[in-house]
Amino acid sequence: MSHGEVLLELVDLEKSYFLGAEEIPVLKKINLVIRRGEFIAIMGTSGSGKSTLMNILGFLDRPTRGLYKLKGKDVTALTDEDEAMIRNREIGFIFQTFNLLAQYSVFDNVGLPLMYRDDEVDEAAVLKAIDIVGLGHRHHHKPMEISAASASGWPSPGRS
Ligand SMILES: Nc1ncnc2c1ncn2[C@@H]1O[C@H](COP(=O)(O)OP(=O)(O)OP(=O)(O)O)[C@@H](O)[C@H]1O
Ligand SMILES: [Mg+2]
Repeated sequence: MSHGEVLLELVDLEKSYFLGAEEIPVLKKINLVIRRGEFIAIMGTSGSGKSTLMNILGFLDRPTRGLYKLKGKDVTALTDEDEAMIRNREIGFIFQTFNLLAQYSVFDNVGLPLMYRDDEVDEAAVLKAIDIVGLGHRHHHKPMEISAASASGWPSPGRS
């Protein structure tokens, strides 16, 4: 039970894919409110539209109809530039396959979004964020050199 401010709100949101002229509806009038501090699981059978919904919530795709409000502001029809700004500043997205940059260190992977902001990269802030997830001692390693187990802080005998 949470009484935080409303962060995400969907009103009658629809998403269809189009095969030629044929409309294939996937999300049909989704109404959803997510408040600050809530943990939400989106569950459904394969093909029910979970990834389609996540892609819209994460600004990787756009709805066909309906309203998406982020912190009370309609974000359904933003410019590409404004969307990129929101992805950079407001959205954290962990992909199933991580999509980390293999040739860069943990430190550089975490710091890269800060470079896109035109800000100076605050090295202390980057190290602090890495430390919070228990990888402080691994910040100079490449993604392939840290296992999922070590990233989650679980003991992993023999393969940390
Ligand atoms: N780019 C696309 N073009 C056409 N149809 C698509 C496209 N992407 C997804 N679909 C269709 O939309 C529906 C929802 O797909 P989606 O990937 O969102 O489901 P999902 O719930 O994430 O499934 P899974 O549990 O298998 O990951 C499916 O019927 C899928 O075939
Ligand atoms: Mg999926």
